[in-house]
Amino acid sequence: MKLSAFGTKFTSHSGILSLMDDLGNALAGDRDMIMMGGGNPGHIPAVQELFRQRMERILDNPREFQHLIGVYDPPQGEVTFVENLARLLRRELGWDIGPENIALTNGSQAGFFMLFNMFAGAYDDGSFKRIQLPMAPEYIGYADAGLSRDFFSAGHPRIDILDEHLFKYRVDFSEFEITEQTGAICVSRPTNPTGNVITDEELAQLDSLARQHEIPLIIDSAYGTPFPNLVFTEATPLWNDNCIVCMSLSKLGLPSVRTGIVVAREEIIQALSGINAIINLSTGSFGAVLAQDLVRNGEILKVSNDLVRPYYQRRAQEAVGWLREAMGPDTPYYIHKPEGAMFLWLWFKDLPISSLELYERLKQRGVLVVSGHYFFPGIGDEWQHKQECIRVTYSQDPASVRRGIEIIAEEVQRAYREHP
Ligand SMILES: Cc1ncc(COP(=O)(O)O)c(C=O)c1O
Repeated sequence: MKLSAFGTKFTSHSGILSLMDDLGNALAGDRDMIMMGGGNPGHIPAVQELFRQRMERILDNPREFQHLIGVYDPPQGEVTFVENLARLLRRELGWDIGPENIALTNGSQAGFFMLFNMFAGAYDDGSFKRIQLPMAPEYIGYADAGLSRDFFSAGHPRIDILDEHLFKYRVDFSEFEITEQTGAICVSRPTNPTGNVITDEELAQLDSLARQHEIPLIIDSAYGTPFPNLVFTEATPLWNDNCIVCMSLSKLGLPSVRTGIVVAREEIIQALSGINAIINLSTGSFGAVLAQDLVRNGEILKVSNDLVRPYYQRRAQEAVGWLREAMGPDTPYYIHKPEGAMFLWLWFKDLPISSLELYERLKQRGVLVVSGHYFFPGIGDEWQHKQECIRVTYSQDPASVRRGIEIIAEEVQRAYREHP
């Protein structure tokens, strides 16, 4: 089959596709696998019960049900939800915004696709611009979201060792360069895969650089404030008319309703809504209608702070404890300080095998993790660190996570023993 450049680019080997394929195949086998690979949020019974009750109320109300399934919303998204959300963000975070500053997309992934291609790629004046990631590791879902190749550039992070087995990435501003070829800056806060939360100072510096160069700063808040607020550290949310903040209902427990939220200045929202109309005609209303009450009365914040965040924070602490126990004092492992999101990012310094080989060995032992090498979009060099990390999800049932961690420790220790 002959395909266009677009068809070829989007069907050729992509990190996220091979990852999803591999995870899917492993699951489809006849073996029970310990799933520590995917990014699916955990199933929190109290949260699901809330949405089940809301669903029942919708079913009992013919007008609401009709609205849920029978109406095309405008391309900017469901009007009442957008109004209520603007009010909530004004009230809670003091952001100077109105409904004209918010657009809904079919998942934030779709929002990133549109935003990235609005600001990077070929320009009419013949120039070509990229999305600049202040540092990688970064979210693998960005990696293939450009309509052209060579779409991202990223800096190496500075690595701060916090204690014997804990570290934190920081933006290395000495490596961070904005040029004529930079279309926008993008950073996830908290970061998938590392659980890093870039500091207020780092964010302020990025904001100031972005303004200076008149390019937008995209802040991916899929795990961030004010919901689902999977932030276990101090972090002040930022928005101003040069920022584009992307949020999502997914990590609150609604990944399948596909609701992404973009908060930006009005001209960006209008442009995005226009593109959304061409690609999607309209954004699905399901998530907006389902979460309508929670956003109107602000309960979405209580759900995040009282149910969702404590669930992940507890799970993160447990997982770190089990990992320290299983690794013992002599294995050269480091955990990225878990400051948010739902992953542990493990770094095995001078690991004698690649992280992909470690992933394969773990798969043989019935444990699925994600090899870290996928998470370095925009870093093209042969940096050894890229081969030394894995991402581990800790949101499945505790007994399996604990067993999975023990197996990870055994395999890592075996690898070091084989090549002392
Ligand atoms: C950092 C980050 N951003 C964005 C997304 C996309 O989420 P969704 O499209 O479900 O809103 C994800 C999903 O895992 C993510 O981890």
